[in-house]
Formats: sequence, structure tokens, C-alpha cells
Amino acid sequence: MLTVEMNERLTRVGPGTPCGELMRRYWIPFAAASQLDDNPVRKVRILGEDLVLYRDKSGTLGLIGERCLHRLVDMKYGIPDQNGLRCPYHGWLYGEDGVCRDRPMESNRGNFTQKTKAYPVHELGGMIFAYMGPLPAPALPKWDLFVWPDAIKQIAFNVLDCNWLQCQENTGDPAHSVWTHGELFKYVLERQGNYADRASDIDHTLHKRTSWGIGIKDVYARQSQYGFEKGIIYSKALGANEDRDDKHSTVIFPFYTQTGKTGSPRSEYQIRVPIDDTHTLHICYQVYAAPPGVEVPKQDNVPWYEPPTVDENGVPILDYVLAQDAIVWVAQGDITDRSKESLGRTDVPIVLLRRQLDEQISRVERGEDPMNCFREEMDIIFGAGESPYDGWAAPDWATRSRFFSQNFRKMYHKGFGNDDADRYGPALDLVKELHRRVEEFEIEANSRVKTPAE
Ligand code: FES
Ligand SMILES: [Fe+2]
Repeated sequence: MLTVEMNERLTRVGPGTPCGELMRRYWIPFAAASQLDDNPVRKVRILGEDLVLYRDKSGTLGLIGERCLHRLVDMKYGIPDQNGLRCPYHGWLYGEDGVCRDRPMESNRGNFTQKTKAYPVHELGGMIFAYMGPLPAPALPKWDLFVWPDAIKQIAFNVLDCNWLQCQENTGDPAHSVWTHGELFKYVLERQGNYADRASDIDHTLHKRTSWGIGIKDVYARQSQYGFEKGIIYSKALGANEDRDDKHSTVIFPFYTQTGKTGSPRSEYQIRVPIDDTHTLHICYQVYAAPPGVEVPKQDNVPWYEPPTVDENGVPILDYVLAQDAIVWVAQGDITDRSKESLGRTDVPIVLLRRQLDEQISRVERGEDPMNCFREEMDIIFGAGESPYDGWAAPDWATRSRFFSQNFRKMYHKGFGNDDADRYGPALDLVKELHRRVEEFEIEANSRVKTPAE
């Protein structure tokens, strides 16, 4: 448990708050570039600040304060100009630096010194990032999935009615899958009357998740280069099928988690961006990669989508993984009161996550850069860092033609994409085609491996 004061410290994100100041040291992903293809002007709220994102006719991105300086019209109705965004009321023009460059009907139209709020924005891998902290801004980190080549990508966005830390703490909870994606999944399918249809195959998501609850000896967490890693140690003596150490998804500070190995047929960043204290923009940056030798179906841009979390009657949809996560995060309350909780052994990684967050907030308070605030450009940064676990940092293609361990995540062409948010994704047909090609490649590669012994 935490004190009430510590809970406030770790959760509040507005300007001037301890965690809000920490967040303002990072490039924050908050929109897809393809969202501006639908409409080049878009209202956004990040860290409790209301802003307008736009792309002008020259292709420049801007992120400015929501209100026109003249008579405070909401700039979400703005008109993209050649260089900047014009207010729809009297045409005042704002550049991406927030400077008012023109006031068409005023006598001294170009001679106005006031600026509106403006933050730097950058695009990487189809995602748009903002930096809202003190200048100079750090380098935009090229986390591996954003720049991974030869892959299909799509981005899912959901606005969740809870504080960001509840979502991120799920990242420090390797054991929740047993219930949230195992037993709950089973219960939901049984109530829908389609358990037999959906889950008869032993490879179905829920069976594996349920089995992860058998034979747990310990749960561990340790700090890593860019965040922390955690997992579950299983014991045969306690009923597991073997003694083993299952490492779970990688955590990248402050708000990323990565599921699936980089370069595998399905991996993703889940990113928990604070909209304000009680709302979170949950982003799934989904990447479906091909091994060398498999041609990736062509994709024109990185599309976006919003997976539904309720049906047409307002009833929660719970038969896919992300929705199951989302409902338990929101069900903890808008800002969960951690002074009233009762932690157990499965919460060991959560204790580390909170300590790390507190330490990094303290660094900012001392005037230092927090972790993952890079001052030099790098071509690619593997979020798993110097991991001792083979294959998490970078797949060794020469020896791993059959490295694809996450079975259901490489069989979307056989219906397994149905178990997660991906099923709503605009790129799903391309992903199915990719997975079909990957399977062909594996069969062919396996037959080559066997030939000399036969
Ligand atoms: S209110 Fe924006 S130009 Fe007048
Ligand atoms: Fe989960």
C-alpha cells in the first residue's frame, strides 16, 4: 500500500505536479498520422492540457493551445493554411511555434507579438509525438517497434476512464493473465454460449493463460536498462509441467510495455498516455514482422482504429484480451486509493514499478534528466536492453527460423486474431496473408532442416 500523499505524487499529471513534471521530460505519443488524413485538425488533451493538433498545407505538424488569442474560439474548427492554422472566426493565423503571424482585418495585421501555447511535435513510424517540457527537448527515442522494417503495422486507440498508473501497473502484474484472460475469458464465453465454438482448440488463448496459474513458486522483478523485467518461476514439485522461469513482457519507463518479441509475427507496445488525472489514452502500437525470405504484403500507411469496448446496448464487450484488461483497470476506480489495498506476492513487480517511478520523479525534482531521456540520437533502441534472455533484444535470424514461440499470435489466418483487439484492425487481412506466408516459410524451412538426417 501507499500513503495518500505518495498516491497523489505518483498519479497526478497536471502542470507543476511531481509526476506531471516527470512526464514532461518525455516525447509523448498521442495520435496517428493517419488520423490527420481523415481530418487535418484534431482536438487533443494531454497531461491535463487542451490542445489542437493540425497539419498545414505544407505538411508541417503543429500542436497549439486550443483557444484563439482574439476572442477565444476553439481552434479545433481551424482552417489549415499554407503555413499554419487560421481561426475560423476572423482568420488569425498561428504557426507551429504558436506565433500569431497574421490578423487579416486589423490595421497592423502582421505586427502582433503575442504567442499562443505551442509544443514541438514529431512523427515516427506513423505515430505523432509531443514534447511538453523545458527546452531543449531530448532526442526522440527510436524504440525498436517504431522503426522495425519489413512489418505490417496498425495503431489502436482507446480512451479509458481511469488514471494512467492503473493501466501501467498491469504491466507489473504477470499473474493477472490467469484470471483476466483465462478464467474470466472462459466465463464470458460460457455466458455467451459460444465456449465450444471459440475455445475448443487447445491453442486458444484462454487455455494457456489458465495453465499459467499452476505451479507458481515465485514472482520476481528486477530493474533493467530501460525499465524492468519480471516473470514467474514455476516448480514441477508444485504441479507445473517442468521447473521453469517464464519471463513476461518487457517494461519501458515510464509508460510503455512490450508484448511479443521484436521481429516476431505479432508484437506490440501498449502505451498508457495520461490525458488527465482520471483519463488515459491507451495506445496499442501493433507490429507484425516477417523473417528474411518472407515478403511483407504492401501497406500504404499505418492505419488506426478504435476497438469497441461496449456493444450497441452499452454492455461491455469482454471476449478479447485488451477489453478484459481495460475493464479491470477502470473497475479499480478513477484514481484507485492505494492506501486501502492489500498487496500479495504477485505484486512484487508493482512495488518495484512504484519505487522506480518515485525515484525518477525525485531526479527531475533535483534538476536531473530521468531515465530514458536521451540527449543523443540513436538509430534504434531495443527496449529489452541488455537482456539475458535470448531473442528478446534482437532475433538471431541465422539460428531461429522456427523462433516463433507464441503460437496463437502467428496464426491469425487460422482465426486466432479473434482473441484480441487486432480483430477490429484495418490491417487484419494483410496480417492474415502475412501469417499464411510465414507458415509456408516455416514448413519449407523445417523440411530443409530434416532433409540431411533422412
Ligand atoms: S476569435 Fe479567432 S480570429 Fe477572432
Ligand atoms: Fe492483461
